[in-house]
Amino acid sequence: MHTTALTDTAAFKALQQHHAGQAVHWHMRELFAQQPDRFERMSVRAAGLLLDYSKNRIESETLSLLLNLARERQVEALRDAMFSGEKINFTEHRAVLHTALRSPAGDTPLQVDGQQVSADVHAVLGHIRDFTERVRSGQWRGHTGREITDIVNIGIGGSYLGPQMVCTALRQFSHARLKAHFVSNVDGHDLDEVLSRVDPETTLFIVASKTFTTQETMLNAQSARRWFLRHGNESDLARHFVAVSTNAREVSAFGIDPDNMFPFWDWVGGRYSVWSAIGLSIALMIGFEHFSQFLAGAHAMDRHFRETPLEANMPVIQALIGIWNRNFFNSESLSIAPYHHGLRYFQAYLQQLEMESNGKRITRDGTAVGVATCPFIWGDVGTNGQHAFFQLLHQGTDITPIDFIAVLKPSHGIDGHHQVLLANCFAQSEAFMRGKDADEVRADLRKQGLDDAELNALLPHKTFDGNRPSNTILLPELTPATLGSLIALYEHKTFVQGAIWGINSFDQWGVELGKVLAKTIHGELHAEANPALHDASTNALITLAKQAQQQ
Ligand code: F6P
Repeated sequence: MHTTALTDTAAFKALQQHHAGQAVHWHMRELFAQQPDRFERMSVRAAGLLLDYSKNRIESETLSLLLNLARERQVEALRDAMFSGEKINFTEHRAVLHTALRSPAGDTPLQVDGQQVSADVHAVLGHIRDFTERVRSGQWRGHTGREITDIVNIGIGGSYLGPQMVCTALRQFSHARLKAHFVSNVDGHDLDEVLSRVDPETTLFIVASKTFTTQETMLNAQSARRWFLRHGNESDLARHFVAVSTNAREVSAFGIDPDNMFPFWDWVGGRYSVWSAIGLSIALMIGFEHFSQFLAGAHAMDRHFRETPLEANMPVIQALIGIWNRNFFNSESLSIAPYHHGLRYFQAYLQQLEMESNGKRITRDGTAVGVATCPFIWGDVGTNGQHAFFQLLHQGTDITPIDFIAVLKPSHGIDGHHQVLLANCFAQSEAFMRGKDADEVRADLRKQGLDDAELNALLPHKTFDGNRPSNTILLPELTPATLGSLIALYEHKTFVQGAIWGINSFDQWGVELGKVLAKTIHGELHAEANPALHDASTNALITLAKQAQQQ
């Protein structure tokens, strides 16, 4: 635990001085002009990825001051505590061991509370391998003897976002016979739409829930079960329903065969669970070998994070750049711009990862954190975002850092597209950095033959300040391994930022209040309302919903 508030640390104060005295005056266009080696000095390679952070408002000194902050906040000690299974999620008395899920069988065995972590992880992986091979080969069939063609994952939050994002990203590795569907929303339209596309004889439902008590998932699972029973018998359920959970009791109460349950453990946070049996839909779609490569890619990033000195450590650097932008330049959000259509759900995945982890305001010692913590995470794939919200990013009043994610080699064979895609990606980060100053705009307008009056009227509108920061992350190809590395990079970045802010990145008490109130209101929609429990607005909304139900 930290004994000094973040803002009272020597490193934070030094950064404040450095920011106010120097950094606010820099323009990246000048820094690049003065430093031909800026890319070499400000880029790092790890686990198959490249992070170019040179287009940020930093100098070498900035980075060394930020590294001092990481040291003063004991990032390395907390990192080692996480990897060794200490209960760093202290509000829930839990270890944080998603890294153990991707640790190879030969690694040093890990034990937590008497549990042989590594042995259990590999036993479940063995179960996943057997099961997925049976489904993919056609050995596992539906109740009428037909092969499985559709996988429906019912889950929400971490039990949905990772599987959906990864299955989409790795589409070209998918089994030709299998289609993956995801039902997350309690809105019946979601389930209805998926059920309209699948055949009960050839569909396998995966009920994915860490707790197996999440209202949305349980309701969707019950409704899917009822739908199935209109076509098959209770005894056929075992061919069509499997579960992924930490809660064996609730799984068997639901009526799922214990042999068809894939367990994981309380030391895996929901938003860190894609590596666990929660990834079952992924393993079914891409096969166990590819799923193993996905785990191996993440493990390569784990090793890099654990073993590399801070100054060359990719997640540490990415985290520190984020802290610099958030706490010194006051940027309120971080835009994620993946230039790969397969990564179109990546920003949604990161929203949960970063915002549920670091959307906190209380430090580990119970006091207010005193600085801004997690920025809003949002975005869309390039080039779509360019034609929607990039105008604001270029010339709006807020300065929003951007993570560009590009993949050098496409997974399709359609001529001409990929170069246009990459050209746009690189052009955007260049434009955000350089901008277009008044002299350049004036020269352009003169060439077009504009008179002075017109030119001066247009000049301020066509001028771009530039100096807008971005990172570029390059993947050689989008494969199970590089995707694994990319996700692990963001996980560790999130960890480092949480460590610096001094918060617990692994609980999520904030989402509980809404869940509790929803239960109360749900009861009132069915039976007698109790206006004394609510404000006038909520009471009126309940009344209107009840009236609509009666019509
Ligand atoms: O939204 C809160 C949360 O607990 C997330 O952290 C989690 O990923 C999600 O709900 C789903 O939980 P479960 O897997 O237990 O259904």
